[in-house]
Amino acid sequence: MPQKFTYMANRGGFSGRIGFILAAAGSAVGLGNIWRFPYLAGTNGGAGFLLIYLICILLLCFPVMVGEIAIGRKAGTDAYGSYQKLGGGKWGYLGLFGILAGFFILSFYNVVAGWAFGYFLEISFGDLLTHQNLGQFFGEYVNNIGPLFLFSLAFMGLTAFIVSQGIAKGIEAANKIMMPGLYIILIGLIIYSLTLPNAMAGVEFYLVPDLNEITPRTIFYALTQAFFSLSLGMGALITYGSYVGKNQNIVSSAAVISIADTSVAFLSGLMVFPLVFSLGAEPGQGPKLIFVILTEAFQNMGPIMGRIVGGSFFLLICFAALTSTISLLEVPAAYLVDQKKLPRKPVVWGISALIFIFGLPSLFSQGIVPFLNKLPVHNSPDFLSFVSDMCDISLTVGACFMCFFIRNRWKIGNFNDELALGNPSFFGSSIQTYINFAISWVCPVLLSILSILVIVDKFFGLEHLF
Ligand code: PFF
Repeated sequence: MPQKFTYMANRGGFSGRIGFILAAAGSAVGLGNIWRFPYLAGTNGGAGFLLIYLICILLLCFPVMVGEIAIGRKAGTDAYGSYQKLGGGKWGYLGLFGILAGFFILSFYNVVAGWAFGYFLEISFGDLLTHQNLGQFFGEYVNNIGPLFLFSLAFMGLTAFIVSQGIAKGIEAANKIMMPGLYIILIGLIIYSLTLPNAMAGVEFYLVPDLNEITPRTIFYALTQAFFSLSLGMGALITYGSYVGKNQNIVSSAAVISIADTSVAFLSGLMVFPLVFSLGAEPGQGPKLIFVILTEAFQNMGPIMGRIVGGSFFLLICFAALTSTISLLEVPAAYLVDQKKLPRKPVVWGISALIFIFGLPSLFSQGIVPFLNKLPVHNSPDFLSFVSDMCDISLTVGACFMCFFIRNRWKIGNFNDELALGNPSFFGSSIQTYINFAISWVCPVLLSILSILVIVDKFFGLEHLF
């Protein structure tokens, strides 16, 4: 029987280790893994991208994840309150910065989730698969604002409903159903795609690295994608960490969460590239990869199989997105509940409405409002991509400051004491050496350099420098 505990009884908490791990893995596994990871890998050299991505996870993301959970559990409160409580002074602003980043991520994330939800309905119950030109269909679809408005609204409503139910009964319960469902659908789809003609060419593109394909861009994209995918740098795991019991082993939980997330990203690539190559299509299609190319693959499966496989795929994306949107919403919700002592339900519905409104420019940014589609910003022509790029920057910068916080303010000794709770063999272990060295040196140094380069790249482009 897992031990039942509730940390800070008035705030609620996860019912145990499995509940926390599933919820945190649910936060991590999302559109980032199934939508963004394959298209970034497709445009950035396939296996080379995968290789750099894995290095980022091991070297930078895993220690940062341990750091965030430890801060949250030690302080037992929201992201702002945690930095404020452990650091004092102006450190609370670092938490606020993360809360704002979460707010903006959710605003555009919900729009893409709405697209996926619409595709699920259109493929399963509509006539999407009978369209001749799926590229054109997608272009028109993302500008068909009426239905998309409703799909995004429904998605935000579902997110708000789950979060309003609280930690154990809402967030944890939803993840316990959706996460296993997600793995089952994913494995089924991989088995199917590997049996298609020319599937092995896709596997080769994805698994055999060509070192010439690795450029500075590959590194930036892999880095920002790794932070986004593991939900790091903005306080989501500080917030979830605050609901974790003192008897839990943070390091091993973080390892399981990182492996779960990375395996879903990896497996998504293994599902997507065989499908893309079986069509003879080009993998570097960008954001429309799954909406256009994969849908074409579903179309080729015939009307019944196409509906079943395609419908399952977009249902998988909806599950993954929902487990992430609930964690994104929990970050500002916890802040208002903990700091402003406001009641959870109205807070959750109120912020959801606000975030939805902030998401409208992203919803309108795919062509229907021309100026939102042609921003004068390097590399992010539309508003949705622009917000997404700004959020990528804030995650890298946020994670970098978190390392400085632990190293210079909270201090490594206190950090270690927190990690030793629920993990008696931590002191003197090689994992302690690795985490301490990473948080004190590797992460602050590399993240400082990379944060600056990522900012310069997103605003001005670094092509001419390298
Ligand atoms: N990790 C999520 C994904 O890969 O889709 C996105 C995300 C969720 C980012 C929660 C940040 C966060 F706090």
